[in-house]
Amino acid sequence: MDCPISVQDIKERLHNSKTVVILTGAGISAESGVPTFRGKDGLWKNFKPEELATPAAFTNNPKLVWEWYDSRRRTLSKLKPNPGHIAIAKIEKLVKEFALITQNVDGLHQLAGSKNVIELHGNIWHVKCTACNKVSLNKDVPIKILPFCECGGLLRPNVVWFGEMLSDKALTKAFVASDNCDLMFVIGTSGIVHPAASIALRAKDEGAFVVEINIEKTPLSVSADATLLGKAGDILPQLL
Ligand code: OAD
Repeated sequence: MDCPISVQDIKERLHNSKTVVILTGAGISAESGVPTFRGKDGLWKNFKPEELATPAAFTNNPKLVWEWYDSRRRTLSKLKPNPGHIAIAKIEKLVKEFALITQNVDGLHQLAGSKNVIELHGNIWHVKCTACNKVSLNKDVPIKILPFCECGGLLRPNVVWFGEMLSDKALTKAFVASDNCDLMFVIGTSGIVHPAASIALRAKDEGAFVVEINIEKTPLSVSADATLLGKAGDILPQLL
C-alpha cells in the first residue's frame, strides 16, 4: 500500500522543522541530464567500475581513467541545476539549521545556490596531487591529459573510488548533522551504497522524521516514515 502521507503534510512538517538535513544521490541530477549509476541507462551498465573508478585502475592506466573523467566533465559543463536543486537551495534559506549531504560529485547543488554542502564522494571539478596531496579547483574542459601538479606529481580526480575511505571530516560532519535533525529528506538515491545510506538509517534511529523522494521504492523505503514517489524536480518545488 502506498504511503498515505501527502506532499501537503510534508510541506507543513518542513515549515515547522528547525533542523533539516537533505541527503541526495544521482537521481537529483537526473533531470539535469546527468546519468545515474544504476538502472537501465546507468553509468555502471556501460562502464566497469573496476576499470575506471578504483586506485588500481588509475595506477594501471591513468590516461584511460582521465579520459573517462574528462568526458564526464565535458558533459557536465553543459548542464544546469534543475528545479529540484533550486528548491533545495530555497529550503536552506527557509529553515534555521540546514545541511545538505550529497553523494554527487557534479557540483550542481552549489551552482543552484546551496551553501552548506557536505560532499561525501568528492567533487569532479577538484583535482588532488598523488605526490603532495594538494587539492585544487580545476575547471578546464577539456583537461590536459595527463595533468600534473606544480610539484611534478600526477593529478587525479578528487573523488572517492571503490575501495577508498570517505573523508573522515566529511563523514563526521554528515553524522553530526543527521544525528541532530528533526526532518531528513533522502532524495534520488538507490540507498545501497554505504556509509551514505546508513546516514538515513541513523537519523531515523535518532528520532528524525525521514521522507524519501524517489521515482521508485528502494531498500530505504521500509525505514522511511514516508516515501513520495515521483521526480524530485516535480515534488520538491511543491514543498515551498
Ligand atoms: P544510483 O544510480 O544508484 O541511484 C539513483 C536513484 O535515483 C535511483 O533510486 C532512482 O530510482 C532515483 N531517481 C532517478 N531519477 C530520479 C528523479 N528524477 N527523481 C528522484 N529520484 C530519481 O545513484 P546513487 O544512489 O547516488 O559512488 O549511487 C550512490 C553511489 O554509487 C554514487 O555516489 C557512486 C556510485 O557508485 C561513487 O562513485 C563512490
